Amino acid sequence: MTSADQETARPAPEDLRVRTHPVLGDLPPAPEVTIFVDGRPIPARAGEPIAAALLASGIRVCRTMPRSRQPRGVFCGVGRCTDCAMTVDGEPNVRTCVTPVRDGQRIVTQRGLGAWEEGTA
Ligand code: FES
Repeated sequence: MTSADQETARPAPEDLRVRTHPVLGDLPPAPEVTIFVDGRPIPARAGEPIAAALLASGIRVCRTMPRSRQPRGVFCGVGRCTDCAMTVDGEPNVRTCVTPVRDGQRIVTQRGLGAWEEGTA
């Protein structure tokens, strides 16, 4: 079992979001949707980036490196580094920090370079 497997195998903690911020104020209400990460249902706020939903549920590993298999997670948070790339609805290399959640979305921890799922290319 790799460290990435251990990370995704942990039970999700309660919501880790900052609900009250000293400068930004209270988190406004938003409809809840459900996404599926490696088959596990995860609650998300409609319209938030996938990476935000993952971090709020304690999921920090998005992908593993092709050769070293070292885990990678959100680094820049603005769509520049690709460390947050995951396979989303069968499409590999989706930057989850700039991709909004959608109800029922299927997200898979990407191993190496990833691969298109059959029927999605
Ligand atoms: S964290 Fe850098 S592209 Fe998403």
